[in-house]
Amino acid sequence: VSDAAVAADHYANALAAKRGGDLKAALSGFLMALALSPDHPAYRREALNILGIVSGYKALPAAVLDGLRGAISDPALDLQPLSLVVRNITENDTRFAEIETALAGAPDAIEHQLKHGAWDWLLNEPLLHAVLARAILIGTRLEAVLTKLRRHALLHPSTILLSRHERLLIALALQGNTTRFPWAEALDETKRLDVITPGLTMALYRPLITLPDTTALPDVLRLARDAQIEARERASYFPALTPVDDATSQKVQAQYEQFPYPPWDAIADVTPTSLTEFVKARFPRLSCDVNEPLILSAGCGTGRGAVMLGLTFPEAKIIAFDLSRASLVYAAMKAEQHNLRGIAFGVGDILNIGTLGDHFDLIECSGVIHHMHDPAAGLRALASILKPNGLMRLGLYSERGRSAVIAARALIAAQHIPDSDAGVRQARQMLTSLPPTHPARGVIDTPEFFTLDGLHDLIFNVQETRYTPRQLKELLASASLTFLGFDTDASVKAAYARSFPDDASGTNLDNWDRFEQNQPQAFSEMYQLWLHKA
Ligand SMILES: C[S@@+](CC[C@H](N)C(=O)[O-])C[C@H]1O[C@@H](n2cnc3c(N)ncnc32)[C@H](O)[C@@H]1O
Repeated sequence: VSDAAVAADHYANALAAKRGGDLKAALSGFLMALALSPDHPAYRREALNILGIVSGYKALPAAVLDGLRGAISDPALDLQPLSLVVRNITENDTRFAEIETALAGAPDAIEHQLKHGAWDWLLNEPLLHAVLARAILIGTRLEAVLTKLRRHALLHPSTILLSRHERLLIALALQGNTTRFPWAEALDETKRLDVITPGLTMALYRPLITLPDTTALPDVLRLARDAQIEARERASYFPALTPVDDATSQKVQAQYEQFPYPPWDAIADVTPTSLTEFVKARFPRLSCDVNEPLILSAGCGTGRGAVMLGLTFPEAKIIAFDLSRASLVYAAMKAEQHNLRGIAFGVGDILNIGTLGDHFDLIECSGVIHHMHDPAAGLRALASILKPNGLMRLGLYSERGRSAVIAARALIAAQHIPDSDAGVRQARQMLTSLPPTHPARGVIDTPEFFTLDGLHDLIFNVQETRYTPRQLKELLASASLTFLGFDTDASVKAAYARSFPDDASGTNLDNWDRFEQNQPQAFSEMYQLWLHKA
């Protein structure tokens, strides 16, 4: 039997294990498939995705790492899951602790190590470069090491880092432009930045767009800077679809104008279909027969949902709107990157969306109405522009799933940490130094913790409502929408089915409430609900 055939077997078994919620078996199957066929795109993608979900592994076989290294040049692959891989394999390497110790020492000793290439295994790792350039780096120890290396590059300009590790430094600059530089910056660094000639070192600390036109930069960074300038100019092009006149909407608008959120990399693995086929497969009891559906992404933010819809339903007409022009700029740029030119982006408020005059077959609205003063009014406004028999996919925060965020906010309030960029940095340091068992520590494992805008969203949000499944039931009833089920991890679905075998459709929200009491982190990201209008 050939390697390829054995790999295909492992892959098929792993897919079945993943569907059944057995992530451990899925992980081992995908890794075995990848180790046997490191060039296979589907094996790479699935291995990467599952490595970003499961935890607990500390090292990976060389063949798997080679497979992943081969995958990072694919611009269509979402590299965010790679962040956890990089954290696990570097922070758990025995050589990592040696770097941490040495970085606490004198600059000459640091330079000595750099000169002898003792840290090249880390500094030259292509997987680390790829995460920094395209995703959000997660990992407090890795961040601390890179923060100290950045400091060394700034305060010791003759360092070998600048001559021998340009790829790493370029990747670090790109990371800062994605995350808006939440890492610690000491006073002596700020002072030095005031006097140096702008260039690559400055780009490790400050957004590319703020550097003077004349700044000499490596090509990659120059192009990234040009793209940022073009994007800023485009912000005024988006049409106003509705007025934004509600006081809370204006407050929320100001937040997301300043802090567009979330950044994201790419969407891979979408199988294009029609809405009719999708409904037939996902909700066989519903009937749906539309040719050119009209779809709305409400509060589209930086556009991940809208782009996903565009790739999934190529025949659909899509309108996407948000309060924040800065977010729309990001969304439109991402749509273009995914070759979607037909999405109509505009500025609007859900509260006034009825004035648009259109009615939709599908509305997607994730992580939005819980930022409204009266989320139920927002949901009613959306329900009113859904066609009869229309569908909605709604994402909302869970009260139990957000317990770490609630604990973190309580600490920040108690310590009077201000809602500013400096306050966010201060809050990060305070949260990182908490004991591992502290209830607020959970926020540190999220990508939000590693971006400035994400932290504003996570712990300084100006407006947020959270739900339990029982409260969801009331909310849906108030907008006359029927619950069709959650989109959840296969493992959550399987656990629910074991607990409530009589509820095959998984639509009993009282059961889900009991389920969540036992598994409070089941919806730590968000509830994703499918709803139907009769
Ligand atoms: C956390 S982001 C989520 C963005 C996007 N839906 C996603 O899933 O990536 C929340 C977004 O909701 C938008 N938003 C909040 N209230 C809104 C309203 N009343 N009308 C339109 N957009 C709103 C904000 O401007 C922000 O971009």
